[in-house]
Amino acid sequence: MLKANWIQPSYRIRMRKVCALFRKDFHIDKQVNCATLYVTARGVYEATLNSQRVGDFIMAPGWTVYHERLQVQSYDVTDLLQKENTLILELAEGWFWRLKKRMPKAIIAQLHITYTDGTVQDIGTDESWRVAESSLRFCHLYNGIKYDARHTPVFNTNAKIAKDNTQNMLIPQEGEIVKEQERLSVKEVIITPKGETVLDFGQNMTGYLEITVDAHKGDKLSFSFGEILDKDGNFYNANYRNAKALYKYTCKEGKQTYKPTLTFYGFRYVRVDSYPADINPDNFTAVVVHSEMKRTGYIESSDPMLNQLFSNIIWGQKGNFLDIPTDCPQRDERLGWMGDAQVFIRTASYNYDVLKFFKKWLNDVKVEQYENGAIPDFIPSIYPRKPRISTAWSDAIAICPWQCYLTYGDVEILENLFEPICKWVEYITKSTTKPNLWFGGDHYADWLELGGKYGSFKGPTRDDLVASAYYANTVNLLVKMGKVLGKDVSYYEELHKNIRTAFIAEFRDDFKTQTEHIMALQFELTDKPQDIADSLAALIHQQGDMIQTGFVGTPYILHVLSRYGHTELAYNLLLRKEYPSWLYPISKGATTIWEHWDGTKPNGDIWPKSMNSYNHYAYGAVGDWMYGVMAGINTVEDSPGFAKVHFTPVADNRIDWFRAEIDTVSGKVSSRWWHEDGKVHYEIITPVDSTAIIDGKTYTLTPGKHIF
Ligand code: BGC
Repeated sequence: MLKANWIQPSYRIRMRKVCALFRKDFHIDKQVNCATLYVTARGVYEATLNSQRVGDFIMAPGWTVYHERLQVQSYDVTDLLQKENTLILELAEGWFWRLKKRMPKAIIAQLHITYTDGTVQDIGTDESWRVAESSLRFCHLYNGIKYDARHTPVFNTNAKIAKDNTQNMLIPQEGEIVKEQERLSVKEVIITPKGETVLDFGQNMTGYLEITVDAHKGDKLSFSFGEILDKDGNFYNANYRNAKALYKYTCKEGKQTYKPTLTFYGFRYVRVDSYPADINPDNFTAVVVHSEMKRTGYIESSDPMLNQLFSNIIWGQKGNFLDIPTDCPQRDERLGWMGDAQVFIRTASYNYDVLKFFKKWLNDVKVEQYENGAIPDFIPSIYPRKPRISTAWSDAIAICPWQCYLTYGDVEILENLFEPICKWVEYITKSTTKPNLWFGGDHYADWLELGGKYGSFKGPTRDDLVASAYYANTVNLLVKMGKVLGKDVSYYEELHKNIRTAFIAEFRDDFKTQTEHIMALQFELTDKPQDIADSLAALIHQQGDMIQTGFVGTPYILHVLSRYGHTELAYNLLLRKEYPSWLYPISKGATTIWEHWDGTKPNGDIWPKSMNSYNHYAYGAVGDWMYGVMAGINTVEDSPGFAKVHFTPVADNRIDWFRAEIDTVSGKVSSRWWHEDGKVHYEIITPVDSTAIIDGKTYTLTPGKHIF
């Protein structure tokens, strides 16, 4: 409970447009021992104390299900205090406008000072705070900013206590904080065929543009953001849809530097629409912003395209782990899509330590669950949309905690989610139109699978088959979790058995698409896995050794192939450079993972602007095959957190050398192989007792380095 009130301006500031500043001046005449500032907002905020930014959290307080859980940040501000002090809080809209229950923006803060004489003082937000319009004349999550550097804020009114002055939803900071992480300089200044000036930062990313300019008062700067150039080399951003992503800046006199830290953009290219001077690339910096995550996973090989693919996977994660796992960072979406998150989580959890990040988001998933157990398709939900309850999307509630358990050995996450997963299973069990399967419902299923109509988001894979397969998988995960937690799971064991039997009886191993085969193999819903794997391989050959899968088939296709003796075919798919494939976008200059296999088509045409992101991590899930099969680094279910490692590296003749390393909670694990003297050499480094299968032979490994 903060000793403070929610406040907002007392006059009708054009709140959705102009940002508000809240100010408190105060005097200190005793020696300060320590001082902490607690702040949160219904909106996003930035605090400054005596003209110094407080902390480095960008887009604080982050995004949660605000009316239930709103994180309060605490900052040590002892060193910023002086005798005469001015504390200013700036409030912008951020994610708040998408809130489920409509409420006006507001802010709440408490400065708690402890003096060396043992006395304390609290300065909380109340009606005594002064309010002014900010120089930020417009600030919007999707539509960007307008900033007027000529504007001097005039604090001529007082704040009022917000009508909704409850603190019930306040919780301490739970997730990782979002911070500026990297600064990229301009790689090239391009004059396009249309004669426009475009800055190329060489990397698709998420963050904002910092500018420095020496200008006259009233000079105007304006920029547009894009991820690609079109086939003629012109600037293109129609795929941002309704996200205007504006950046309009009016200068004061003299040299000035600015960056818009209360919103963000997804971009590689910046078109200079208006600028008062010659372009000096040194005056432009792209600031990369994402959640703080410790990097843990590395992959490198002799193949430059594979290296670029891995770099794109990493940048897909950087670009979309901005407080919640999002689908994409640029268009009018940027939402916590459940399907995307579950598809990518294994790769994500090897690349970076994302335990804290997912724990916080899964708590939001938990509170968004409906009474009847249904789980929305993206979280936090937004007003007034009614979510779709879809297989493979809502199932993130089981897949994500289980993967966190495997990668980090964290049991708490299972305890926390076990009951909600039971409720989710109950929802499916009650809502299906065919017992022991999931028939009916409205699913994304194998979203973006190939083979559908032109411009369609769905292919031929049957929704009921995917839904039933994921139902089996979720119940199976529940059984495993229950066993870890020492619960009686006999009901779920029985249910899983029944689903499996019903699935086999219903679909009779008659699978029409790659994804249908993959579902049966990955979730063990066939009695003849080898036959089904061979049939999948035959189907792939028949389709020209080309991947056809969408969101649910793609993460598993290479795994099921290599698991059943088709590793060479899996490598064929991975190393393919023509559309459709993972490397095709790289041949088109991609620096992040695309939403579609053919975001840009071989002839240079661009996918319809209605849905075409160039920074969508889902297909980057292939990273876990690179770690798990190429390098062969695998978790062991009964020794999670890499307390044991099972190594199964498999080399391929087309790649001279390959190595992967994961900085696990049990220590550094690494695996590499190279070709020399007509042989493949393997080197494994393990911090723990492990097992390995290399060229069909099984080994028991003690901690240390092993060469084969
Ligand atoms: C998102 C996807 C998401 C999907 C639902 C799209 O608009 O960008 O990645 O999972 O909707 O199918």
